[in-house]
Amino acid sequence: MDIKFIVISMFLMIADGFTVRGPSGPLFVPLGSSVILPCYVDELLPMKGLEVEWRRTDSETLVHLYQDGESRPEAQQQEYHDRAHFFTDQIQYGNFSLRLDNLRAEDEGKYTCKVYSQQESSETVVQIKDVECLRVSGSNRSVSAYDGEDVILSCSVDSHIKPEHIEEVKWIKTDEYILVLLYQNNETLPDSSNEQYRDRVEFFTDEIPKGNFSLRLKSVRTEDKGVYMCQVFAGGLSANAMVVLERLGFSLLHINCVGFLFCFWIWSCTSALPV
Ligand SMILES: *[C@@H]1O[C@H](CO)[C@@H](O)[C@H](O)[C@H]1NC(C)=O
Ligand SMILES: *[C@@H]1O[C@H](CO)[C@@H](O)[C@H](O)[C@H]1NC(C)=O
Repeated sequence: MDIKFIVISMFLMIADGFTVRGPSGPLFVPLGSSVILPCYVDELLPMKGLEVEWRRTDSETLVHLYQDGESRPEAQQQEYHDRAHFFTDQIQYGNFSLRLDNLRAEDEGKYTCKVYSQQESSETVVQIKDVECLRVSGSNRSVSAYDGEDVILSCSVDSHIKPEHIEEVKWIKTDEYILVLLYQNNETLPDSSNEQYRDRVEFFTDEIPKGNFSLRLKSVRTEDKGVYMCQVFAGGLSANAMVVLERLGFSLLHINCVGFLFCFWIWSCTSALPV
């Protein structure tokens, strides 16, 4: 009985193997530049018999192959000959990252890094996206509000980005560079707001999964007037949008009053004219 248990535990330990890791989200890269596709293990693997395969996930095209202690350029797809660089000196540290140079539009997509060691294998997928995908939009026109009113400052992230890949969204009042509201690691952090905005700002929780980080600013005050920036961080990049908040006056009643007096004045002038 005991022996059977030990044998099973040993089998489970072996079967547990190693885990290959990659980046937590897509890599946003400008075309024409270079990018390192991370792929690594936490524990050291024996060099003997180690094999590392980098492939396009969808087409299975071989981007780079490391086998029998060396890179195998003859096995690799022609288009990657000069553009894929494997760090042979890093393998001993469990680092199987690949550098892709001179990035083209066709390079966008998913790459699988598969590592074979001692009858075991493990893999991770790295996604490359064109940096242009990280686009943030605000309001084209300035937003106006009267004192005491609530106002919505718009900010939305291009739908190409999955919400779970958005690391941080920061609303900042740019004139004084103060923090209005912060969203970080899938959480809104209301305590981070500057005193001026504490308890007066919120996101539309239901809208966040759609990449909509519009802000509700409650009971607008004189000092709220200014330029606001919504700054979004994802995949090591950031993009932002500006919204201008104009304050119109004290209240609707006040404006109507002025309008009424003006009309009255025109009417009295007109009626004073000789017929
Ligand atoms: C792997 O090697 C590359 C190239 O030297 C380096 O940029 C990267 O930081 C390394 N990654 C890890 C996890 O050590
Ligand atoms: C974002 O959410 C707000 C509040 O519901 C809404 O007014 C606005 O139209 C939304 N923006 C987009 C781009 O969907």
